[in-house]
Amino acid sequence: MAAAAAATSTASAPSSSFPSTCRARARVGARPSLVSLRVRAANPATVNVTTASDPAPVFQSVTAFAPATVANLGPGFDFLGCAVADASLSLGDTVTATLDPTLPPATVSIASVTSPSRPHLADRLSKDPLRNCAGVAAIAALRALGVRSHAVSIHLTKGLPLGSGLGSSAASAAAAAKAVDALFGSRLARDDLVLAGLESEKAVSGFHADNIAPAILGGFVLVRSYDPFHLVPLCSPPALRLHFVLVTPDFEAPTSKMRAALPKQVDVHQHVRNSSQAAALVAAVLQGDAGLIGSAMSSDSIVEPTRAPLIPGMAAVKAAALQAGALGCTISGAGPTAVAVIEGEEKGEEVARRMVDAFWSAGKLKATATVAQLDTLGARVIATSSLD
Ligand code: HSE
Repeated sequence: MAAAAAATSTASAPSSSFPSTCRARARVGARPSLVSLRVRAANPATVNVTTASDPAPVFQSVTAFAPATVANLGPGFDFLGCAVADASLSLGDTVTATLDPTLPPATVSIASVTSPSRPHLADRLSKDPLRNCAGVAAIAALRALGVRSHAVSIHLTKGLPLGSGLGSSAASAAAAAKAVDALFGSRLARDDLVLAGLESEKAVSGFHADNIAPAILGGFVLVRSYDPFHLVPLCSPPALRLHFVLVTPDFEAPTSKMRAALPKQVDVHQHVRNSSQAAALVAAVLQGDAGLIGSAMSSDSIVEPTRAPLIPGMAAVKAAALQAGALGCTISGAGPTAVAVIEGEEKGEEVARRMVDAFWSAGKLKATATVAQLDTLGARVIATSSLD
């Protein structure tokens, strides 16, 4: 099934070098280059194309990878997140976008969905582009580019599990938006790409950019506001040797269910406490203070207390991580993955083992662990094939 771009109208390893978004600080908050974005309170992600041309493709196909993300980082609910990746790039999704002359112009079709490490997962994902994260983002990217004469088919390879708290939907969306943009010459500005991915996030997991922004930009990102849309990449000193121990239990925590568990009201004292911890976290990232990153990340007193009881064993897992020497631990995104931070990777194996054991002993859940680094690149092109 192909879906029209206008239908909804209104190989690199993770780098420990300075994030590319940090090298290009002058672009922070830059307005999109090709399209005029009018951000409206009722539907802030709506992209209104006013000046876009009908660009010619520059490749026959493009493959892009986008990393997993850790949203919230404790007190930064819905406004802080970072990208993470392991050396083998298993923590992320890959999308190949190919020009497809058999489709009607300005449409997207999902040709295949595969998941080599979890074959059953592919059957659970729709191939209807309007119901697939990669499809929705690809359509939004085509529309933002103003493509009218070409159509694209998408091959999605899922590396991330669903409902895990690792930004699975955002990784698919980011890889799709990046691949489609590169197919037509990488014309979209950074914020356009994030907004294309946000259209997808809005459809599947809620209107929050704390996964999709770091999935596109890499590194740590603060989502300052939606109206106007303003992202602030947080650039840590290159010497910061932060590692993330990600422990994912065999348990699904759908974002919708975990959002339904949020408190309806927040006490002003809790608000003050969380705000100061989030501010400390931002300062710690900028200063490269791993200890402060960890302790601030561990200090959410609004969201984590309401969600942790829904994840069997989570409280014990956090305690085990801290006892094993982690600098901090919290729920990654909406869960159920637990994320602990350590400086250097030496303690990674031991912290991971203790967290996996705690999920089993306290929650009767099997769990798998990965020790990852900050991914400073975000969504990137990993392969291209030339026009015939
Ligand atoms: N900030 C979102 C939440 C992230 O916690 O609900 C979901 O991945």
